[in-house]
This record gives sequence, C-alpha cells and structure tokens, in this order.
Amino acid sequence: MSADQAGLLVPDPPVTSLEDYRDRGGGQGLERARELGPELTVKELRLARLRGRGGGGFPTGDKWASIRAASGRHRYAVCNAAEGEPATFKDRAILRANPYQVVEGLAIAALTVGAREAFIGVKASFGPEREGLTRAAQELARAGLLEGLTVSIAAGPDEYLFGEEKALLEVIEGNDPLPRLLPPFIHGLFATAPQLGWEAHAPETGHVAEHESNPTLVNNCETLANVPHILSRGAEWFRSLGTEASPGTIVCTIVGDVARPTVVELEMGTTLAELVERGGGPLPGRTLKAAFSGVANAVIRARDLGTPMTYEDMKAIGSGLGAAGFAVYDDSACMVEVARAFSRFLAVESCGQCPPCKLGSGQITNALEQLQAGRATDDDIERIGGWLRSVTDGNRCYLAVEEQVLVSSILQAFPDEVAAHLEAPCPLPRPILVPKIVDLGDGRVVYDERQARKRPDWTYEGEPAARVG
Ligand SMILES: Cc1cc2nc3c(=O)[nH]c(=O)nc-3n(C[C@H](O)[C@H](O)[C@H](O)COP(=O)(O)O)c2cc1C
Ligand code: SF4
Repeated sequence: MSADQAGLLVPDPPVTSLEDYRDRGGGQGLERARELGPELTVKELRLARLRGRGGGGFPTGDKWASIRAASGRHRYAVCNAAEGEPATFKDRAILRANPYQVVEGLAIAALTVGAREAFIGVKASFGPEREGLTRAAQELARAGLLEGLTVSIAAGPDEYLFGEEKALLEVIEGNDPLPRLLPPFIHGLFATAPQLGWEAHAPETGHVAEHESNPTLVNNCETLANVPHILSRGAEWFRSLGTEASPGTIVCTIVGDVARPTVVELEMGTTLAELVERGGGPLPGRTLKAAFSGVANAVIRARDLGTPMTYEDMKAIGSGLGAAGFAVYDDSACMVEVARAFSRFLAVESCGQCPPCKLGSGQITNALEQLQAGRATDDDIERIGGWLRSVTDGNRCYLAVEEQVLVSSILQAFPDEVAAHLEAPCPLPRPILVPKIVDLGDGRVVYDERQARKRPDWTYEGEPAARVG
C-alpha cells in the first residue's frame, strides 16, 4: 500500500450509515474479537504493535492487558475525542469520515477489558463530530452489535485540559476539567476509593459497600479507530505498513506557514518534509525555520525536517511525534514570539492545582513578553531559566512538563534570536496565534481567535464570565 492509498481511517467518500459501513467490511473486527476472546484479542494487538495516537505512543495491547489485570469489580472504557492539542485536526477528520470505526473500536476495547459501560468524551463545540458519533452509536446498538454495552457521549468544554485523561474522567463525572491525582487504571470512573491511599474520615453516609477503584481504559479516538481494521485484517497486515517499531498509518495535520494546510493519512515513516509538501510546501520565497508537533515536544529545527514520522525517529532528534499535528514556521517568524505565544497558551490553560505550574508558566510568559518588547535583561533570562527548572515541581499532569520542554528547547535552539531581543525590540514583529484549530478543509485553516483573549482564570476579555464546565 502506498502512502496515498492509505485512506483506511479517513475514507473518501465518508461512511454515512451503518449499512454503508457494513458494505465496506465494518463490524468484522467486533466479530473476530468475540471469536478470539479477550486474551487472544490483547495478543493480536500486541502482535500488531499498535501504539496510542493520543500523543504518548504507549503500546495499546499493554494498556489493555494492564486494565484486565487491575483489581476492581467494575471497569469502564473511554474514548478520548477531546482533540485539544494545537495544530491537530486528525480526530475530527476521522470522525467526519467514519465515526462507526471509532465506536466499533471502543466496543472491542470494552469487551476485552470487561466493561459494560463506555463513554466518548468529545467537545460540545464539535457539532458534526458529536452528531456522527451519536448516530453511529445508536445505529450499532439498534442493530444489536453492541450486545449489552452502553455507549454514552459526554460533551465537554473547550479547555485544553479536557483531553488530559485524568481531567477527562472528571468531566465525564460532571466536573470541571481539573486532572485528578491518580491515573485511570488505578482510580477510574466513579471510583470511590480514597485517592491519597488513606482514609482521613469514615466512609461517607450511605456508603455501605467496599470502596471501588473501577479501573478505566482511556484511549485516543484514532487509536480505537485502528482496532477494528487490525482485528479484521490481522496483525501481520498492520505490521506490513509503517516501520518495525511504529507500524500502521498515521493521520497527520500540517498547518502554519504552508500554502495549503491539510489533514492527510500517511504510512508511518513518511518524512516530515513530505508532509510539508502535502501542505503545499512553504509560502513563495520563504524557507522553513522550525516545526512543532503540537505544544508537548521540543522544537524541530529545519535541518531535521527529513526525519521520518515515527515514535523512534522523532525521539532520536530530541523531539516527539505527539499527535502528528505539525505547525511549521518560516524565516518571517520570530522564535521568541512563538515561545511567548505557546507559553501563554500553556500558562492560561494550566488549572492551578499545582502552584509551581500555574505561577511558573505565568512568570515565564511575562518574562518572554518583556523579551519580545526589547525590555528584558540578562537577569530576566536567568529568571526564565529558574522558573523552567521548577515549573514541574509536584505536577499532577504533563502540562507543566510541556512548558518546560517546549520553552527551553526554543531558547536553546535559537540563542541568536534571544540575544538580538536583549539589544532591541523584535526584528520580526509578526504576531503568532497559537494554532488551536476550529476548522480545517479545502486548504484553509481556521484558528480559535478567542484563545488570545482567554485569561488565566479561564474567562475571556470582553465577555461576561461564565462557568467552564
Ligand atoms: C494537557 C494534555 C492534553 C491532552 N489532550 C489530549 C487530547 O485532546 N486527546 C487525546 O487523545 N489525548 C490527549 N492527551 C493525552 C491523554 O492524557 C492520554 O494519554 C491519551 O488519551 C491516551 O490514549 P492513547 O494511549 O490511545 O494515546 C493530553 C495530555 C495532556 C497532558
Ligand atoms: S501540572 Fe499544571 S495543569 Fe496539570 S494539574 Fe497541575 S496545575 Fe493543573
């Protein structure tokens, strides 16, 4: 299969009904999972070497096995379709093209880990995707394919943290997107066990049963979309695509300083340079300076654009594949401004449960603003270094690490640009908007312009304050 023919997860034309889905082979993965039973299903996923597409690349078969092995009477399966990573539109592309494969993948996951209830967390603002998911879940249930499994759609807020798995569970439980302490496989949905490991008080009134930890599986939307195809076609077929350590296809997003921003499904191992070409290449007369795989990894320099898009190759250049959503910047962009914009995004989105994260990312952002305005001194650079070292202290979630990794990588990769700002105001005064995507299609991308007005308390300048959840 060539990269072009991939079309597996993003079929064209889109799948519009269960009948259409079944005509194209849909439902066979679930059938095979029932024949195999949970143990062999996990074995098949391990053989396929599928890795989580939510950003971390964690081996999916191992994750499913750990939920099966965890103690607890109730289990849940959750699909993460929150898609909040900047520069990423792939889950929405998958959901628009074929929501049925995602629900089928979730049903296979639930069956395998022993869950009777499953949830799909999706932003309330993702209208067409929510409709597609609801329709797919209803049609699959009506056709008897879900066999006693209840699939519910949980609509969540626009906050970046909604996609963080511990915050996602909070939202499904009806709370704000504040990451809880323990991971989902230890403290799952509707768990009653105390999170700190000891009880500071007697069980709540009316709590008669033993405490429940409800181990919960959380997988990204694209991860689950892969599952029915792997089961129906076999692990060997999946491994025939991509590379040894990163098999399969990956749905990539390319935005920023390219002629035609797009989402495209490619074989793993395709180079980032080829993805840039798929996005129409750089703008006329411009050369690319840097790329970012969302805001969770170190900057990728122009000299590394030939790197294959695999977990191992991206790691080898000191960055990461993330959710394969890339924002690229050309020689008209100021890297201090990029650092400021990304740092501000993370500082605003930080929930503040861990003071060094909220305070530190805010201070780093302030200092970068001073630097950008040509008002910073060497002392301010020192101060940024100090905050970067402590911003992760006591962190509950990975957002604080993102701030540390991303900002320090930019400052290290572009020391001349930093130095130039110490002597005079920015030589490339072009404002950078964080590429938080609202819509993408026909070579045009729409970013969330409201984000620039979002304040650290999650209210918006110029708008009446409203509760987030
Ligand atoms: C701040 C933050 C935001 C995240 N946002 C998303 C998201 O929008 N979608 C997603 O699938 N994973 C997101 N993740 C990763 C999830 O926590 C989790 O690792 C993922 O859903 C696991 O699925 P996978 O194993 O299939 O990759 C985020 C993580 C962090 C720290
Ligand atoms: S690390 Fe930051 S974003 Fe994560 S829980 Fe703590 S304060 Fe919130």
